[in-house]
Amino acid sequence: MWIGGGWYDSFDEEELGNIYNHQVVRRLLPYLKPRLGLLLVATAAMLGYTATMVFIPRLIGDAIDTYVIGKDLDGLGRAVLFLAGILLVNYAVNYAHLRLLAKISEEVLYKLRTNMFDHLQRLSVPFFDRNEVGRVMSRVQNDVDQLEEFLPMVTLTLGDLLSLVGIVMMMASMNLRLAAITLVVIPILLLIMAAWQRFAKSSFVRVRNAISAVNSRLQQNISGVRVVQSLNREEINLKQFAQVNQANLDANLGAIRLSAFLMPTVDLVTAAALALLVVVGGTMALQGELMPGALIGFAMYVQRFFDPIRNLTMQYTQFQRAMTSGVRIFQLLDVKPEVVDRPNAPELPTIQGDVQYENVSFHYLVGVPVLQDVSLHIRPGQTVALVGPTGAGKTTMVSLLARFYDVGSGRIMVDGHDIREVARDSLARQMSMVLQEPFLFSVSVADNIKYRHTEAPMEKVVAAARAVGAHDFIMKLDKGYDTVLQERGVNLSMGQRQLVSFARAVLADPRILILDEATANIDTFTEVLIQRALRELLQGRTAVVIAHRLSTIQNADMIVVMDKGRILDAGTHGELLQQCALYARLYNLNFQDEDGAEPGAAATDALTRSLPSISPG
Ligand SMILES: Nc1ncnc2c1ncn2[C@@H]1O[C@H](COP(=O)(O)OP(=O)(O)O)[C@@H](O)[C@H]1O
Ligand SMILES: [Mg+2]
Repeated sequence: MWIGGGWYDSFDEEELGNIYNHQVVRRLLPYLKPRLGLLLVATAAMLGYTATMVFIPRLIGDAIDTYVIGKDLDGLGRAVLFLAGILLVNYAVNYAHLRLLAKISEEVLYKLRTNMFDHLQRLSVPFFDRNEVGRVMSRVQNDVDQLEEFLPMVTLTLGDLLSLVGIVMMMASMNLRLAAITLVVIPILLLIMAAWQRFAKSSFVRVRNAISAVNSRLQQNISGVRVVQSLNREEINLKQFAQVNQANLDANLGAIRLSAFLMPTVDLVTAAALALLVVVGGTMALQGELMPGALIGFAMYVQRFFDPIRNLTMQYTQFQRAMTSGVRIFQLLDVKPEVVDRPNAPELPTIQGDVQYENVSFHYLVGVPVLQDVSLHIRPGQTVALVGPTGAGKTTMVSLLARFYDVGSGRIMVDGHDIREVARDSLARQMSMVLQEPFLFSVSVADNIKYRHTEAPMEKVVAAARAVGAHDFIMKLDKGYDTVLQERGVNLSMGQRQLVSFARAVLADPRILILDEATANIDTFTEVLIQRALRELLQGRTAVVIAHRLSTIQNADMIVVMDKGRILDAGTHGELLQQCALYARLYNLNFQDEDGAEPGAAATDALTRSLPSISPG
């Protein structure tokens, strides 16, 4: 289950290390179906390749016996031509096989990637609350890559198995007794492989666990680097990291020893089989029971016999990885979005932005109520601020409005439509959300501003950036609007990132705007910029603003004070200071936080002036 923990941290150990997983294969089949015809052609080519490979030693042996021993030069010439023809066919079908399979697998992977991307978008905020975006993205990419080799591997393995059977049949048809004697080594080989397989499985699991231990350590320490440094934890952490890292090294070395052991063993067994052939087959040839050409053919078969075995052992780990990745990919595709539309849910028509919470109650976990009987009416164009201590339920209020979750009881109406009755997409299109942690992607600044409106012309992008005061700093970047952001925009300052996400909201031009602690991580200098941006942003739309700094919301049309999932009071800043003890306390605390700045001080002045005063529509 995903709830609570990160999705990648929960993984069924049972599934690990297997080279075949029926669920994964079954789920992959629909992706292959449209290309069934091509797949059949590729398989036929593979069969042709295997057949020619199996026949060639026999042809060579026969040619030697018939034409060399029989001293028939013309016949030998014809045989050589024939062999050349076979080799040409062998080459052509091999090429066709590999080429077609690569094409099919690329198409499958393309579709799989598209599906996953689509799915991840639908999971949106609640899923990413629990799973860090960067981590999910890189793992998804990795897992899909692991599957790349999978399809070609399947037919290659099939070909390998078939050629094993073919070779045994050929040898038996040439000389049953010699075949039986040479192939006594097979049971020995099978025993070795079986033992190896057991080790390989447990070693794979060990390596994988060690790697995830290292990754999660790294992850924790990097994302918590500020805390780590402030608590002087560096040295202890380094020691702990050294431990998990050492375990990882040991596990990897163990795995390497294992595969290093296998190849020479197969070679040794091959050599033993060849030696047996030379002694027994040689004696038979001397006694006239076997033609020399047949002996040569046999020797070639013994060599070839071990090739597929060698391939199979090499492909073993690849199969393990592909299956593990497959399990993860389909687990991710199975994560259900929190909210699902009714069948044939109608589109929400273009809205004015009237929002009404009617007796809304909600809980995340059964028995732990988060919102209790909340009613609130926000008129089109109004700016409403939600304030209250941490955990009061402010974020939950806006998450419900954005329909990341459905209400437990009561309802939320937008322009008179219960939001559960309309297609979620049509609601989302008319609403923008700016969060404390800006949600940026590793694409260009321009594309980040465009976001969903990919067709927006450059003038609109620039206009949006100008409106929020982001234009100047963007122009100072390396390549201006074409500058590609690093992962989640880490090459910008927090304030700059927030300005980019404001520009995105301006360009989207939503009727309803939600700001959840959007100004919390911003220094006072950027704050002045942000305040100007906010004025532009709030102009003429319905806005729900959650702000830690109460100074930023004093001019809101209505301030709603929340505590423990209920609305305590609502009114203007002046009214609330008079009548609401909690508000007065929060307000005073706030000003102590900000170094005792007076409400009249220059900075605060800039902040308050910047808010629009919109009369209720
Ligand atoms: N995804 C979640 N799963 C379970 N409980 C949650 C979740 N998100 C928030 N809560 C709980 O709901 C309550 C309200 O949280 P929230 O709406 O985030 O408050 P605020 O934004 O006012 O700080 C808190 O007690 C919090 O622990
Ligand atoms: Mg919150």
